[in-house]
Amino acid sequence: MTMTRKDKSTDKTPRHVAIIMDGNGRWAQMRGRTRLIGHHAGAKRVKEIVRACPELGVECLTIFAFSTENWKRTQSEVAGLMKLFKRYIRHETQSLCEQNVQVRFIGDRVRLEPALVDLMDNLELLTSTNTGINLTVALNYGGRDEVARATRRLAHDVAAGKLDPREVTDETLPKYLDTCLLPDPDLVIRTSGEARISNFLLWQSAYAEYEFIDTLWPDFTPEEFRKVLNRFGARDRRFGAVPA
Ligand code: IPE
Ligand code: IPE
Ligand code: MG
Repeated sequence: MTMTRKDKSTDKTPRHVAIIMDGNGRWAQMRGRTRLIGHHAGAKRVKEIVRACPELGVECLTIFAFSTENWKRTQSEVAGLMKLFKRYIRHETQSLCEQNVQVRFIGDRVRLEPALVDLMDNLELLTSTNTGINLTVALNYGGRDEVARATRRLAHDVAAGKLDPREVTDETLPKYLDTCLLPDPDLVIRTSGEARISNFLLWQSAYAEYEFIDTLWPDFTPEEFRKVLNRFGARDRRFGAVPA
């Protein structure tokens, strides 16, 4: 039987978890291997973490796969990553369908190669009616770029007379973001010990809880994921109010 959304969710469970999967390069370096080997090891972990979500009560998982700044890396690393994304989608499509996962991509597709964009579109379409967990993959994603693109679309609507500038509020703007169909993340996890957000979900994470953990992404197991989620349950979220 396929697990559906909300099967295991409680108030103590973050509904939406977003992960900055960092540390693949260092993981490989420590083993004297190429950075790309680290990315492949990281991709394996993604499969395990996705599989663990229904059992852990996580309804939405968003993963940072490639940032708008990652183009600064060597041409061979970027090319290797793009190849890995295509391979991952091809290999995982059937399994994601069997797991009832609904997949969406966020980020700017314009700079991505057409063969990859086709695979992304196809995976979104094939999984669009799935009712299990919601997996969002941030690919060529940058929070500032997303807000800029959203503002551009909003400005077009204003210019076309479809939107009154007086209606632009913190409730209308997010409707133009790539994440318009998603709730805000409750918990943002970053692996590899870096305590920064590197342009990830800037608008959406205004009230997220953060967990910066030392484990490198290829070493991040579902067991450790469970522990991080348990710590979330003990947190006191106030959203600016005074606790009752
Ligand atoms: C994260 O791992 C994966 C991507 C950014 C694509 P890194 O490649 O950043 O690994 P480190 O930070 O160099 O160890
Ligand atoms: C953030 O990691 C992007 C992804 C995990 C895809 P980076 O490794 O690119 O971030 P910085 O450069 O350390 O800030
Ligand atoms: Mg890194």
